[in-house]
Parts: sequence; structure tokens; C-alpha cells
Amino acid sequence: MSEIDALKAQLESLQSEALSAFSAVADLAGLQQLRVQYLGKKGALTEVLKGVGKLAPEQRPVIGQFVNQTKSVLSQALDAAEAELSIHAKVARIEAERIDVSLPGRASAKGALHPVQRGLDEITAIFSQMGFAVAEGPEIENEFNNFDALNIPPEHPARAMHDTFFVNPIGDEPMLLRTHTSPVQIRAMKRFLAEEGEPPLAVVAPGRVYRCDYDVTHSPMFHQVEVFKVDRDVSMAHLKGVLKHFLSTYFEKDVSIRLRPHYFPFTEPSAEVDIGCVFCAGKGCRICKNSGWIEVLGSGMIHPNVLKSVGIDSEEFSGFAFGLGVERLVMLKQGIPDLRMFFENDVRFLRRMGS
Ligand code: DAH
Repeated sequence: MSEIDALKAQLESLQSEALSAFSAVADLAGLQQLRVQYLGKKGALTEVLKGVGKLAPEQRPVIGQFVNQTKSVLSQALDAAEAELSIHAKVARIEAERIDVSLPGRASAKGALHPVQRGLDEITAIFSQMGFAVAEGPEIENEFNNFDALNIPPEHPARAMHDTFFVNPIGDEPMLLRTHTSPVQIRAMKRFLAEEGEPPLAVVAPGRVYRCDYDVTHSPMFHQVEVFKVDRDVSMAHLKGVLKHFLSTYFEKDVSIRLRPHYFPFTEPSAEVDIGCVFCAGKGCRICKNSGWIEVLGSGMIHPNVLKSVGIDSEEFSGFAFGLGVERLVMLKQGIPDLRMFFENDVRFLRRMGS
């Protein structure tokens, strides 16, 4: 066999060996290895080319053409195999990532508002709907707004009853954790007068208050809602109408109310408000101590001194005000026996109360 025929035969068998290797390979990495093995710089084809040097110069182009042909057959076959293997790889990956859309989802735990927050929101919303504007004041309050402006001068016994937490003064101004939401009356009236000039104004002020007190019915931090209205000719009748509407809406039934004469420094006259017992419908039970009535809040006509302290003419304007304890109302509505349950954060209680 001539040199050239021998080389041709060598190329032919190389080609058929390579093609069957390409079709047998299982993955892209294996194919890349074969590419190097046959077409690489030190590959089989290069090895065959070395033999070309032995040929006569006129025979070289003939075999050169043959080599190029083999090379293009092999590289086309490699490309085709690579395309096919990539599709296989992609299909396998998609198959592996298949999502079962019919699998039931895992429900995430749902949070709920704290019952006191819910009560605050509910109560505030009832007054909002009646047209009262929502106002807030700071929990760290000055002594003037918390006491003096509310007609509780320095030596007044009511100061002692408030079990006040004092904090660091600001300059000469004694500061405290507000003991009730009534100072928001002072702040809201001042702000309102600066903005609007004169009454009418109607405000609902929800918030936290603090007293140094702790037992079954007292917590050092609790929540109040303060409600007041100032206008010409405001009377106790307005107070009673608003109370009746509010309490019936909150308790979701027609509750009877009773105003008992009382004393608060910032109202004159003052009254404590009772509702007909929501547990026994007035027949008498343990909760209402057999009286048929439950005390729910303090109220009255805003004292002229309070109006004076913010510059409202008490000859021309009058107002009613009341303040209620949120925890107490929530306890009555939900039948919760102990105030401390609100603050212990027992999740069983919070889950049962949550909505
Ligand atoms: N501030 C009073 C308290 O915390 C509650 C109160 C009573 C508020 C009568 C009022 C009111 O506005 O008129 O004990």
C-alpha cells in the first residue's frame, strides 16, 4: 500500500472510531474529553498529520484536503452531539425541578391584635363615627398639663391619689408619666384654638397611662380613652346621649345607664357612670355585687377653671368630658376575670381572644 493510501486508511478508521465514540458518550463532560482527544492540539488527527511529512510534495495537498474533510466531519458530529446532549441535560434539569402544584400548602401562623389594642380601636372608631376628631398626647407629660391645668393645684389631695411616677425634670418643669389621658384635653384645646380660633371642638384621645399600683384590678400601665366636646350650650343631656350611644354600640345591645353624683377636680358637676349589669341584665350577680349596676367611667361638665387655663371663655362656652378605662371595658365585654391576663402574654389566652 502506498504511503498516501495508508494515511487515507488511517484517517478513515480514525473517523469511524471517533463517530462511534461520539454517539456512545453519555454527557457533555465526556464529549468535551473526546473533542480534545480527537481534535485537540495533541489529538489523534494531529498525530496523523505528522505522517504527511513523509509524503512527496505533490501528494501533500491531496492528503491535506482529506484531513480537512475528516476534521470537518468530526467537528460537525461533535457539535450535533453537543446540541443533543445539552437538550437532554436541560430536560433532566427541568424534570428534577418539577413542582407539584397540587401539593397542599403549608399554612403560616396568623398574628392577631392584642385584645386591649382591639378594644382601643373599637372604642376610638365609635367616637370617630360620631364626628369626634382623634388626638394623641405624649406619655411623658409635664406636671402642669397632667395636674395644674386640670384644676388640680399642688397641694390638692387628688395628686396623692394618682400614685404618680415622676421622671427627670426638663429644666424647672417637673415631668411625669401621665396618670390619665385628661392632659390631652389641655393639649388638644390649645392646639385647636391656635389653629381654628374658637370652639366647637370634639375630641377622642386614646392612649397609655401609668400609675404606681398593682393588684387584681390595677396595672402600673393601662389604657384610657378621653372624650370631650366644647361648644356653646353644651349640657349634661349631650353627655348622657353620647354615653348611651357609645355604650350601647360597644356592648352591642341596648344598655341602660345611670349617672351618680361624684367628684373630679376637672369637672363640675361630676358623675360616675354605671351601666345595667351586662351579665345578669340588672337582676343581680357576683360581678355587679348584686346591685344590678356596674361602674364604667367618670364624667362631667368641664370645670370653668380648665377652660380658663387654655383661654376659653367659660361664660360663652361649656363642655362635657369623660374618661374610661379600656381594660375594664374589654374585661366586661369579653368576660375576662383578671386584669393581669392582658399583660402576662400567655399565648393560649391571646389566641383565644385574638381575631
Ligand atoms: N381622668 C380621670 C381618671 O383617670 C377620668 C375622668 C373622669 C376623665 C372624669 C374625665 C372626667 O374627662 O370628666 O381618673
